[in-house]
Parts: sequence; structure tokens; C-alpha cells
Amino acid sequence: MGRDVDSELVAAGERRIGWAARAMPVLTALGERFAAERPLDGLRIAACLHVTAETAVLMGALRAGGAEVALAASNPLSTQDDVAAALAGYDVAVHALAGVDRATYYRHIHRALDIGPDIVLDDGCDLVNILHTERTELLDGVTAGCEETTTGIIRLRQMAAEGALRFPVVAVNDTRTKRMFDNRYGTGQSTIDGIMRATNTLLAGKTVVVAGFGYCGRGVAERARGLGARVVVTEIDPVKALDASLQGYDVRLMREAAPAGDVFVTVTGNRDVIRGEHLAVMKDGAILANAGHFDVEIDVRALDDLAVDVHHGVRPSTDEYVLADGRRLLLLAEGRLVNLTAAEGHPAAVMDMSFSAQALAVAWLAREGAELAPGVYDVPEEVDVEVARLRLAAAGIEVDVLTGEQERYLHSWRLGS
Ligand SMILES: NC(=O)c1ccc[n+]([C@@H]2O[C@H](COP(=O)([O-])OP(=O)(O)OC[C@H]3O[C@@H](n4cnc5c(N)ncnc54)[C@H](O)[C@@H]3O)[C@@H](O)[C@H]2O)c1
Repeated sequence: MGRDVDSELVAAGERRIGWAARAMPVLTALGERFAAERPLDGLRIAACLHVTAETAVLMGALRAGGAEVALAASNPLSTQDDVAAALAGYDVAVHALAGVDRATYYRHIHRALDIGPDIVLDDGCDLVNILHTERTELLDGVTAGCEETTTGIIRLRQMAAEGALRFPVVAVNDTRTKRMFDNRYGTGQSTIDGIMRATNTLLAGKTVVVAGFGYCGRGVAERARGLGARVVVTEIDPVKALDASLQGYDVRLMREAAPAGDVFVTVTGNRDVIRGEHLAVMKDGAILANAGHFDVEIDVRALDDLAVDVHHGVRPSTDEYVLADGRRLLLLAEGRLVNLTAAEGHPAAVMDMSFSAQALAVAWLAREGAELAPGVYDVPEEVDVEVARLRLAAAGIEVDVLTGEQERYLHSWRLGS
């Protein structure tokens, strides 16, 4: 019986991975190139990433390149269990299960580190953090790492500034092909997808409050507006706030937005963006979702304190908090990443670019990593350009090439108007 269930899970995971791979022509082509060139031969990689079908395609490419790979989840709720089961067939040591508690989540990261990595891949800096605090005996063996998200880069830059970071890390997040597409289009679409799957709410005519107008926030705002919502933006950066205002969004203080909003999305990378004072004045039925990396943007403890009753699971990924006066606030995904918990994360076509940059960055680190001093590095520009070029080629789109004259014009200060 158990075996049947397992083999069904594996088959479901394989179908899901196959479906994702169809939308990932660049990473698939890189996997084929890696299989021929074996740029990662003999390397041990410990990865802490969302265990999704797209990650499985990346793991396949790394394995094809010759690496031995161990994978833990970068979020306790985002693991696709069928994919985790199927990954065993790729010969990847997977330590992840959806819905585990905090202690198990960290134990899984330790198990992935047990591989004794040469290279680490992280999404949010939890693995790198554990390496520098609890697994320091492994640090000498680590040549380099990659970081996938904004929050992770912020933590790494702080480590580097304090002289605590012990190896070079490439900021995959900061490539143009990641930030412009993954953070904006990926988070934009999948966050709205998560809210709709969880609540089936009609967004047309609703007031959607987006906290944070960075790369992700503008994607969420654009998609919500596209579905007919009135979008209110809250910011702390005057330039971003001005940009939002000139794009036609209603920019307000959270204090003012709180009683007006029907749906709230936090995507700031900061903590306590929605606090008790905001929760206390929200409308009956207000929906609270977070798309920022950690579950600290909505003060869930304050929500707990305000509530006289909590109904868990009134809908998938939806908990209803009943306040003393009978108002109900709906918290999605326990305040964790709504797009990865209530939906399936970014569409594969978007992850094709982020993970192709990641795979090329790993190959680059395998060649150059030992020469680099500890610190946070940009992905080489040629990696960014190559990912975009391959993606355009897969879509059959060509771009113009500079003429010799144009090249000279752009690079010479002697040539005037
Ligand atoms: N859900 C996903 O799949 C996904 C994908 C990529 C990144 N992320 C995460 O989303 C978060 C944002 O990433 P980004 O690339 O948009 O970062 P970003 O730096 O481009 O944008 C964050 C914005 O939030 C603003 N901000 C900070 N504190 C605020 C506050 N208290 N109130 C209102 N605005 C505030 C900042 O001024 C900034 O404009 C990070 O935690 C990142 O790791 C999530």
C-alpha cells in the first residue's frame, strides 16, 4: 500500500517536473551543454531552495554537469512533496517535507550541509547563516555560493560589511534577468494567483493595498490593476513613492490605507509593516497576504492578540481571525510567502531565466570561485546577456546588432553631435 502511494507521488512529481521543463528551454539546453562539458565534475553542492518543479529542473542541470547535490527547502510551507519524491530519481539527496515545524526545517538544512559542500546555493541566506554559526567546521571546504533573493542579499551584505562572510557569494538576485522578470512578472502574477486560489475573491472593484513598490511590489500592483482593482501603494522611499504616484497609483500611509483596503499584500523585505494598530481598524473580510521573503511583514502575533477566535482552514491556506466586535480578518498562508504556499510559485518560464543565471553562475564559480576574496559579487554581465539571448532565441525573437559606427559612437567622447 505504502509503495503504491509512493510510486503515485513520484509519478505525479515527474509529470509536474516535465510540465515545468517544457517552459524552460534555456535551462534544458544548459543541462544538455553541461552533460557534454561536465563543468561541475566532482563538486559537492548544498542547496537551500524552494523545492518546486522548477528547482528540480535546475537540480537536473547541476547533476548533468557532474555535481553531487543535496537539497533542503528554503521555506517550510513551499515544498511540493511529489517533486521532492521524484527528485530522488535524479539522484539528488532531498531533505524537505511540506508543512514541517521550524525545528525540522532547520534540521533539514543541516542534513543538506552534511554533504560537505564546495559550493552552496541559498534563497534567503538561512543555509549560509547556519554555516557561519553552527557548522563552522565546514567553512574551510566552501569555495563559493549563490544567493537567489533580495532578503538574502541584504543579510549577506551585512555579513560582508562586518567581515563575517567567509567566502564569495554571487548575487543572482541582482541580475537584470532575475529582478526584471522573476521579481516583477513572477511575483506579480503568482501572488495574485495565490490570493485567488486561497479565497476565490473577485479583485475587480476591490481596493488592493500593496506595501512596498520595489521590483516585486510593482509587479503585484500592475497585475492587481489589470484585474480591475483600485490599487493603493504604501512606501517609505520617497523616490519609489513618487514613481508609484506618477504611474497613477494612490500612495498613502498604511495608517490611512488600513481602513480602506479589501486586500493587503506586503512585499517589502521589512518587518512589522502591518501592525496591531492597522489590523484594529481593518474592514470585515479584509484579506492579508505576504509575498516578502520572511513571515515578519504582517505582525501575526498582534493578530492573534486581537482575535477572540481563530478558524483555521476556512479555505485552503486561509485562516479566519474573529475580532471582539465580530469583524473577520483573513490571513493567507500564515503570513508566509503567499505565492509559494497558496499557489505554485513563479511560472516556470520565469524561473527558466533565474535558474539559468544560477546554473551559469555556478559554472563560473567552479572555474573562478577559488580566486575570489570573500564578499558579495555581481553575476558577470555576460551571464545576464547570455540568458536573455538564449531566451529570445527560444522565442524566435532577434535583436539588432550595433554597427561598427554605433559602437565607436557609444565608446568615444571625441565624437559629438
Ligand atoms: N514572493 C516571491 O516569490 C519573491 C520573489 C522575489 C523576491 N521576494 C522577496 O520580496 C521582498 C521584496 O523584494 P524586492 O526585490 O521587491 O525588493 P526591493 O528592495 O526592490 O523593494 C522593497 C520595497 O519595499 C519598501 N519598503 C521597505 N520597508 C517598507 C515599509 N515599512 N513600508 C512600505 N514599504 C517599505 C522599500 O522602500 C522598497 O521600495 C524581499 O523580501 C524579497 O526577498 C519574494
